[in-house]
Amino acid sequence: MGHNSFYVTTPIYYVNDKPHIGHAYTTILADVLARYHRLMGEATYFLTGTDEHGQKVQQAAKAHNVSPLEHCNNTVVRFQELWQRLGITNDDFIRTTEPRHTRIVQAILSDLYERGLIYSDSYKGCYCVPCERFFTERDLDDGKCPECRRTTIELEERSYFFKMGQYQDQLIDYIESHPDFIQPAHRRQETLGFLKKQPLGDLCISRPKARLSWGIELPFDRDYVTYVWFDALVNYISAIGYRSNEAQFKKWWPASYHLIGKDILTTHTVYWPTMLMAMDVELPKTVFAHGWWLVGDTKMSKSLNNVVNPMDMIDQYGVDAFRYFLMAGMSLGQDANFTEKIFVERYNADLANDLGNLASRATKMIERNFAGQMPPSAEIGDDERVLADLCLAAADNMAEAVKNMQLDSGLASVMATIREANRYFDKMKPWALSKAGDLATLGKVLRHTMECLRIASGLLYPCMPEKMTILRRAMGISEDALAPQLPRLRQWNILPEGSKVALDEALFPRAEYKEEAAKEAQTSKAASAKGKNKEKTAGKQDEATPAVISIAEVGKIKLQTAEIIAAEPIANSDKLLKLQVRIDQEQRQIVSGIAKFYSPESLIGKHVVVITNLKPAVLRGVESNGMLLAAEHEGVLRLVGTDGPIASGATVG
Ligand code: MSP
Repeated sequence: MGHNSFYVTTPIYYVNDKPHIGHAYTTILADVLARYHRLMGEATYFLTGTDEHGQKVQQAAKAHNVSPLEHCNNTVVRFQELWQRLGITNDDFIRTTEPRHTRIVQAILSDLYERGLIYSDSYKGCYCVPCERFFTERDLDDGKCPECRRTTIELEERSYFFKMGQYQDQLIDYIESHPDFIQPAHRRQETLGFLKKQPLGDLCISRPKARLSWGIELPFDRDYVTYVWFDALVNYISAIGYRSNEAQFKKWWPASYHLIGKDILTTHTVYWPTMLMAMDVELPKTVFAHGWWLVGDTKMSKSLNNVVNPMDMIDQYGVDAFRYFLMAGMSLGQDANFTEKIFVERYNADLANDLGNLASRATKMIERNFAGQMPPSAEIGDDERVLADLCLAAADNMAEAVKNMQLDSGLASVMATIREANRYFDKMKPWALSKAGDLATLGKVLRHTMECLRIASGLLYPCMPEKMTILRRAMGISEDALAPQLPRLRQWNILPEGSKVALDEALFPRAEYKEEAAKEAQTSKAASAKGKNKEKTAGKQDEATPAVISIAEVGKIKLQTAEIIAAEPIANSDKLLKLQVRIDQEQRQIVSGIAKFYSPESLIGKHVVVITNLKPAVLRGVESNGMLLAAEHEGVLRLVGTDGPIASGATVG
């Protein structure tokens, strides 16, 4: 089964999320691996897609006044367009709302039900609405959802359960006897720790339609839909022909890699393998859990307003630079830090100064001194040998790095060859050789430099396909060899004499990190956080504050409509209320000083206007993420709203 094939998957992304660098990272990683394996001549299949059922989609669709499927159709394009822009070469894109998927989920459910592996029972637990998950009291973290730290609600209902618990020992044995199944090793320990700590319970795989109708209907009970994770995980096999195209399924399964982020480890290393065991299907070869991209060492989150949008980076620095940064910047299983400053520093050091500069210097000298024709094959002295050995070793290192999921170290060894070639170039002083008319030595130096660039560009090709195509074309490599043949990256001195060399553009123009602009953005965030203090001094004219502000300054404050869905007093405060508001698909907690003017009950269902990019604050020990707008005059306070109904999350301004 699937021995000589490479099948790689990404998680299927929640369709109503906006893609961020976390999503981009996994998808680019899968793309680089797929491209590399294709170059190795392996039959390769790369799957990505979107997870389209569940409560959040249902709520968002309602807020936008469209059907859930229409909502999915509108939002799925964000991912599809980004993948296209990023040059992602996925072979398929699966959406869990497609009949080819829903049919298979239902067939699996029927089969497990008939075989007694799914049963009905009543269930009571703590339910987290945003995470769509039940937890036991024991799982809760200080009474809150262990995943998102929000308040849970107690819920009892009749449900259907998958007999996950009966596979506990089998799964432990499997993980222990297959060290590659969960990578990296510390994640394997995490899952084993979880499995050995307590008896594994059965998995609730249904949701009553009365509460959630947007899902795949259970084939044996029309009042229920399937739990989203049970539905979503099946994508990895429904897309490649499980129960619909046996030959295709056999070709690709078991998957070589399920690439996932560390937060979805349990679903992939406990739910999914036990589901497969019940179906009598082989387990994937490896579930690889990567770390998280942090922003300035902080978690990315909507409420902190620090989510990095890949499109912004691509617009400014180009697709390949972005791909390179993400691949070079994260090590096996560790978290990594993203800031624009770090991005620009690495871009300038690795791409503009080292690689771009070498390519430009070498090609220009060939254009000037050899009429743009590759100099002839030349002898290899000691200096050239050092360079050649390093380049040939880089090819081995990259192959190892791909095998061991250490792309960052593979890329680092390629960059080391570029730095060595720059040293070689400087040591040989080709400009002096040119001046002295020593064309033989000059030709040798340029040729060996180009050999380094040929190998490096081949090894970097899966990561930076656009720029490396330009570079390889510029060194006269024929069109059919632009995508490199890997064995040729293990040979030295093979560039054909006389091939045309011309590089018309700077591959990676130097970028400038605009510290001033970044500082300004920081200050504006801080200023909006100070809004609360200003309230206290209302009436006093702050001399530093100009009487008028520009439209750009107005634009820095993000105002959105919101609906109040819960309100409660805060202990020991006669002014503050703790509110839960819905802003589009997001639920937020806001502490507001309106207790004297509104009772908590009277606020439920009110449509208000909220500053949503205010820095979070803690008031009386309660976290607040935003500020409600209100008008106050002579002891009367009124919340600001809109003069007619409008979806929550609408921009005000
Ligand atoms: N729909 C589920 C996956 C189902 S797979 C059968 C899901 N979707 S998600 O859109 O929320 O997340 C997708 C992936 O993005 C996860 O692997 C998650 O770890 C990853 N990331 C989310 N934030 C991230 C970072 N800041 N950094 C890196 N990856 C992160 O979960």
